[in-house]
Amino acid sequence: MRVLSGIQPTGRFHWGNYFGAIKQYIELQHEHDGYYFIADLHALTTIRDPSLLRANVRDAALDLLALGLDPSKATLFVQSHIPEVSELYWILMTGAPLGLLERCVAFKDKEARGIKADAGLFTYPVLMAADILAYDSQCVPVGEDQNQHIEVCRDLARSFNAQFADTFVMPTARIVKDTAKVPGTDGQKMSKSYDNTLGLFEDAKELRKKIMRISTDSRPMEEPKDPDTDHLYQLYSLFATDEQRQEVRAIYERGGFGYGDIKKRLADAADAFLNPLRARRAELASDDAYVAKALEDGAHRARKVAREVLSRVQKACGLT
Ligand code: TYM
Repeated sequence: MRVLSGIQPTGRFHWGNYFGAIKQYIELQHEHDGYYFIADLHALTTIRDPSLLRANVRDAALDLLALGLDPSKATLFVQSHIPEVSELYWILMTGAPLGLLERCVAFKDKEARGIKADAGLFTYPVLMAADILAYDSQCVPVGEDQNQHIEVCRDLARSFNAQFADTFVMPTARIVKDTAKVPGTDGQKMSKSYDNTLGLFEDAKELRKKIMRISTDSRPMEEPKDPDTDHLYQLYSLFATDEQRQEVRAIYERGGFGYGDIKKRLADAADAFLNPLRARRAELASDDAYVAKALEDGAHRARKVAREVLSRVQKACGLT
């Protein structure tokens, strides 16, 4: 099965990115044909500083490799290294109804927060569709927030296939229920735009401080509490073993505990998980040649597929 997903290099990756998406990439790479890319063209809708974008792409590659993406198993590449995708984007734009794009929540949300929309932001889901369709992707592992964009992709593919020849493979989103929407420090969805993130590779001391500041309610300590509606418990359960989870569930249900104790447990569990990854990342950071070679090989493999798909598309719609 061809699995594909992308991630924007708009800042350092957070727990939501990992547990919602990257963890799936890494699990699926063993059994399936994985294509994973750093979406630098999408990032241009927000980053307008060339050296920052370049640095972020390198950081994203290092993070993905340190987290366990293996270039000998999966194809890792940078979105803009495959120019075929941009041509496919235009072709799909010519059949994209404005109403469909106007309904996209990600766009409406940014507009509502006063971020001035340009055509790039508005047509962002069409570029995503091109990313997915260019590689005959069947499965797209993502967090819940990307589901609507994958529906748009399916709509565009379906209407192209109906209008011209049967050209595109129909992709399906893969969303893991328990980690589809990882909460941030304030209980809302973890997101760079909400300034509520916990970073995967941020400084260990800073991270611990942020964990200790996670918002909690002010109910009395002795009152029993429902772990399933508590974002601190949700965050803890990302790292905890089954046994640890059962233990903490019992504490919630019994009452008579302080949130500070749970936060300490969370910080310890996160540290135990992140420490080996931090070490691996530091090692990789001193091997620029390895990272560059992984991205170069990845682009080479990805481009071969995208060329074939684009040529099929061009033929279908009469571009010679
Ligand atoms: P991006 O960079 O915003 O996010 C990358 C991935 O992380 C997931 N994610 C979350 N999952 C669970 N809980 C959260 N709090 C959370 N925050 C982020 C996202 O759902 C995503 O899977 N448009 C995409 C990048 C992209 C793409 C594609 C993805 C470009 N082309 C083609 C799939 C297929 C994006 O902005 O992801």
